[in-house]
Amino acid sequence: MSVPGKRTVFVETWGCQMNELDSRRFVGLLTRDGYREAPDPEEADVILLNTCSVRDKAEQKVYDRLGRLGAIKRSRPSMVLGVCGCVAQQEGEAILRRAPYVDFVLGTGRIELLPSVLRRVREEGDRPVELSFDMDEVAYTPAAIDRLVRHKASVTVMEGCNKNCTFCVVPFTRGRERNRRLEDVVEEVRGILEGGAVEIELLGQTVNAYRDPGTGADFADLLKAIAPLPGLKRLRFVTSHPRDFSPGLIEAMASNPVVCPSLHLPFQSGSDRVLARMKRQYTRSEYLDLARRIRKALPGIALSTDVIVGFPGEGEDDFEETLSLLREVRFAQVFSFTYSPRPHTAAARWEHDVPPARSAARLARLTELQQEIQHELNRALVGSVLDVLVDGEDRKGERSSGRSPCNRVVNIEGPARFGEGTLVRVEVTEAFPNSLRGKALRVVGTSGTRLENPAHVPQIIEQGDVP
Ligand code: SAM
Ligand code: F3S
Repeated sequence: MSVPGKRTVFVETWGCQMNELDSRRFVGLLTRDGYREAPDPEEADVILLNTCSVRDKAEQKVYDRLGRLGAIKRSRPSMVLGVCGCVAQQEGEAILRRAPYVDFVLGTGRIELLPSVLRRVREEGDRPVELSFDMDEVAYTPAAIDRLVRHKASVTVMEGCNKNCTFCVVPFTRGRERNRRLEDVVEEVRGILEGGAVEIELLGQTVNAYRDPGTGADFADLLKAIAPLPGLKRLRFVTSHPRDFSPGLIEAMASNPVVCPSLHLPFQSGSDRVLARMKRQYTRSEYLDLARRIRKALPGIALSTDVIVGFPGEGEDDFEETLSLLREVRFAQVFSFTYSPRPHTAAARWEHDVPPARSAARLARLTELQQEIQHELNRALVGSVLDVLVDGEDRKGERSSGRSPCNRVVNIEGPARFGEGTLVRVEVTEAFPNSLRGKALRVVGTSGTRLENPAHVPQIIEQGDVP
């Protein structure tokens, strides 16, 4: 159903939280320009494909998808089709050549240009390709972000990455590090909290490498500036690089209880030989020492990580070291990937000498081990009491589901009766490898949105055995 006079936009998002947030920036920027969001591509005046290129066959996937969107374009030639995100950045002009029905290509550093790019397409018949990065500052209009949920929000603190890990395409697709000013980030967070949010997640490719471009304030300073803001109950950040994890940051986390007891700290490989070839800038023992120091200052913190198997030159002994690191650290969650060569990266020029079947077998062994560890860790939580911030319903729509402070998924027994943003005190009754189940003791707070069915609340509070 279209509203007369209002153009519509549909954004399809692939990839990470940064892409998710960028998509809300696209929608917000166009809303300011008089657009409305369309529920599906079939009826949209503008379709944006916000792409991810971090792993395997990303480019091919984009062209396959474009083929299908191209059919819509043929039936409705006035529709404008744009490719954005990391594949746009990586492929540039080539996209216009291979998919002649694409109207424009917008790189990751050029998001703010979207309204003017659309005007150039419509009014001048241009096919713009905008790929550069403005190195002076991050062009950002926080007020234009069209946020979908009110109880929690992601906030970019820096973009790009200067690390150049030999496997990773991000420095090419997201450019070099650019930081926002500390006071701008604080003001954005303050505004979001005033709108009812209680949880903030700070985003950056190497978020803990943050430096205020003017004052030189570091990430610990930023945490300390955000932690006391009124209304904030949970502060998270992602992704940290082990090399940039300063003692000051550990101290800032430990002394601000609003910082959640969970931390994503990719290690990628447990073998020094592989770490050196990956150019990760730390050794196995440095990583383990950091994990120990973090746990000493923040006992009970849930660590999560990323790991790659089948990196060029990874032998069986290297892989065993990865498994032993998993046993030693006992992560609460692991995102594991088989290596895939990415364009522009150093490792892509090396012999890809671990056959796919061997990588797949290693990944399966790693997953099996990690599932056991997670199940053990989760079982140890049975009987404990956690405050769960409800995000919605579980996959089957049967129970309310949310996250604990340690970022575990907790599904709440009984019908799905708590609205998004409700903070429910839950006693853990059952543990699975990837989630917990528990019974609601009482509602300890609401935020953002109202309870879906407030009638249930008194009943739960009566049951409550937690003061
Ligand atoms: N700093 C980034 C972040 O914010 O998560 C990490 C980059 S990437 C988006 C996330 C993970 O993908 C990496 O930590 C790594 O484990 C994995 N990854 C990156 N390049 C890869 C490749 N070429 N093959 C397989 N996995 C890869
Ligand atoms: Fe990629 Fe390494 Fe940066 S994994 S995002 S180059 S820290």
